Amino acid sequence: MSVLRGKKILLGISGGIAAYKTASLVRLFIKAGAQVKVIMTPASKDFITPLTLSTLSKNPVHSSFFDEEDKNAVWNNHVELALWADIFIIAPATANTMSKMVSGNADNLLLATYLSAKCQVYFAPAMDLDMYKHTSTLDNFKKLQSFGNIMIPAESGELASGLSGEGRMAEPENIVAFIEQDLLAKLPLKGKKILVTAGPTYEAIDPVRFIGNHSSGKMGYDIALAAAVQGAEVTLVSGPTHLKLEHELVNIIRVTSAEEMYNACNACFDDMDVVVAAAAVADYKPKVVAEQKIKKSDTEFAIALEKTKDILSSLGERKTKQFLVGFALETENEIENAKLKIRKKNLDLIVLNSLNDEGAGFGKATNKVTFIDSSFVAEPMDLKTKEEVAADIVNKIKIRYNV
Ligand code: CTP
Repeated sequence: MSVLRGKKILLGISGGIAAYKTASLVRLFIKAGAQVKVIMTPASKDFITPLTLSTLSKNPVHSSFFDEEDKNAVWNNHVELALWADIFIIAPATANTMSKMVSGNADNLLLATYLSAKCQVYFAPAMDLDMYKHTSTLDNFKKLQSFGNIMIPAESGELASGLSGEGRMAEPENIVAFIEQDLLAKLPLKGKKILVTAGPTYEAIDPVRFIGNHSSGKMGYDIALAAAVQGAEVTLVSGPTHLKLEHELVNIIRVTSAEEMYNACNACFDDMDVVVAAAAVADYKPKVVAEQKIKKSDTEFAIALEKTKDILSSLGERKTKQFLVGFALETENEIENAKLKIRKKNLDLIVLNSLNDEGAGFGKATNKVTFIDSSFVAEPMDLKTKEEVAADIVNKIKIRYNV
């Protein structure tokens, strides 16, 4: 999943031959899951049509303060467009447009929008090689960068003039990769390693039967995704579930039993900064696993059970720098029991689910949780979707690291 997913991208096109490449650029942004709006300078319309770009972006394309052909013309509000955007990219950025950006000229919609923009601005220059090397152009690059704008350098190759050298606008794929890398590097949890456990565990009785529970794994998967979206490298140790999660920052280790989950978590724990234990681990397992399928015989049948290893407690004992988050599902004396669990498992935060709350618990889309920290400060939350609870948990992690 691209970091551009859900981002609002404003693309400003100025008048150079490289404008023809912006059709591919819009396509790539849309494919990455972004919303795209396009502003064109009047000159750029000689190189690519607004119709092409509005079709690809699925949004009207603006190029003047008023739509000249429309009798009931409305004002294209440059401030609104600028505030709408999470990212503003000017590609191609011609020598002329860049010099106007530097001097604060606002004689077209693109420039007025640029002056109003509060979001991150990227610019991808495109021009002939001698123009690219001219002192005034180099000066403008420096000035624009000093304003906080990020330059996506031109590439070398054959130019429209027939000459060959530096000045070709970066290829659309490279522009997208550049922006993705820049955004990823700035994410708040970049570089943090987070271990999340999710789902139930299955404890074998014989080759065909097991003891399990109704955990869907959704809470843990939502936490893993929310942390990855904030830039964390996530190891998701998951018990059996049908859920899928495809994200380049999430590594899923699939396990079946509590013992396997214990081993997987302990193997990677030293490297981790944070652990969120959202799995509903079986507390007991059959003492002996029958090698053959157990045949029915008597009217009654009993299985001797023994305790599984407590994964979170084992991590709590080994804790050095890690921020440990556990869950507690309680039906009585909720707060007191949760506090005991914080001490018993050496946790920094516990997410308490009370089954007494409507909408909380297994198989539900919502959760009503109370956060309790290691100083026993309790923070009851409203009834929320599991995605929202996941975002709240990730926020607690961000607060821990002051990011
Ligand atoms: N947990 C774990 N390993 C286990 C059991 C639980 O890592 N073998 C974790 C869960 O993922 C959860 C927390 O410990 O984050 C609390 O689990 P819970 O079952 O509520 O508490 P228990 O310690 O098992 O106590 P009890 O069942 O008696 O309430």
